Amino acid sequence: MRPPAHTEGEANTSPARAEWAARTTDAKTRDLLGRDANAFLHQALSSPCASTITKAEGIWIEDTAGRRFMDFHGNSVHHIGYGHPRLIVAIKDQLDTLPFSPRRFTNDVSVALAERLGDIAPGDLNKVLFTTGGSDANEVALRLARAATGRFKTLSFWDSFHGAGFGAASVGGEATFRSHIAGPLLPGAEHVAPFNCYRCAYGHSGPDTCGLPCAGMVDYVLAKEGDIAAVIAEPMRAVPIVPPPGYWKSVRAACYRHGALLIFDEIPTGLGKTGRMFAFEHDDVIPDIVTLGKALGGGIMPIAAVIARHDLDVAGDFAIGHYTHEKNPVTARAALTTLDIIADENLYERAAELGTYAIDRLSDLIEHHPNVGKISGRGLMIGVDLVMDRDNREPATELAEKVYYRCLENGLSFKISAGSVLTLSPPLTISRSDLERALSIVAQALVDMS
Ligand SMILES: Cc1ncc(COP(=O)(O)O)c(C=O)c1O
Repeated sequence: MRPPAHTEGEANTSPARAEWAARTTDAKTRDLLGRDANAFLHQALSSPCASTITKAEGIWIEDTAGRRFMDFHGNSVHHIGYGHPRLIVAIKDQLDTLPFSPRRFTNDVSVALAERLGDIAPGDLNKVLFTTGGSDANEVALRLARAATGRFKTLSFWDSFHGAGFGAASVGGEATFRSHIAGPLLPGAEHVAPFNCYRCAYGHSGPDTCGLPCAGMVDYVLAKEGDIAAVIAEPMRAVPIVPPPGYWKSVRAACYRHGALLIFDEIPTGLGKTGRMFAFEHDDVIPDIVTLGKALGGGIMPIAAVIARHDLDVAGDFAIGHYTHEKNPVTARAALTTLDIIADENLYERAAELGTYAIDRLSDLIEHHPNVGKISGRGLMIGVDLVMDRDNREPATELAEKVYYRCLENGLSFKISAGSVLTLSPPLTISRSDLERALSIVAQALVDMS
């Protein structure tokens, strides 16, 4: 049995993808795609691949055939653009100075990064551990929550994504990562429906009118179970789905009431993408643990981080994240320099400003188009939800794919989320004119293909 396609991408076997590949692929590209398919284990959303890449610079990627695309996806790693010159210099310098730090030795750059993250994070969030990937950072957070509460259960959301490891997949809510081949996942990983019910998705006006039953359900399950260690969630889904006003305050209060920790996974949303350093700052709450990753390595190095409340440093006698590259000075230097670049180039302020501009501009261009259900987002994480018609709100998946391939032809790459949401997430360094150009490509493609 084939699991359903991951909601964050397309199925490997999409007919539109096959058609694009047949029409556009040259011999060199075909050869590389063939070697990739032979060499790698096949899996959903990876090999066989759709395309090849030879260059990544600024907001641009280039394929083997020399076609250039503005990259409005970038796996959420490219906040500072690809190959930022200042980052390249810093990494080269670090390679010459101290390339590795074996376990039980510490080094200045790793400590400086941990201190900086503790300074950036609000409240008492200042105890840090590094991992190489986001999935592992979430595993550390879950272990810490068990150690701190003496409980093992978790509460998380259907449709969420927290990574591919067994713990992360257990709290995740996507079928692709929870398929029968995974076998039994972690016991006690309870799930509820996420925020963003039909009314949220289509613009109710907040807690006064709906009473936030989605937050009430979290409270209900925490009360019924009585022994949940932590609620783990993305504060805003990268799909993108913005929480309704008051949602997180209500869940935060429920966590306090029932003795559960609140863990926010900010792996794609953190570091300024949504117009604040952390997406949770929009909702005026502070979690007990936050995880960061992806863009932390500046789009070059693999590094993720767990930042926990100071008093959660309770597992000193156990190994909670014992990774070989835990204090790798090269990945740490990449992260420290990335944080410098974000601060010096005012990137999160820029994301807020450009994001508002982009949503306004998209509204001007396509808001009244009969297939546009909703334009939403925060900062430079923007979604255009395509529907069959505005009354039945059925997802317009085929149209979304056609629009996507027309945009690719015109030099813009992005991701389709949840089958029908054009998900536009450019680097925070993008110029206003490139952003404007990309939005016009999307609007024109929609007009052409519908
Ligand atoms: C919300 C979220 N959490 C965790 C992860 C996993 O990160 P990694 O792929 O670095 O393990 C991802 C990756 O897409 C993510 O979007």
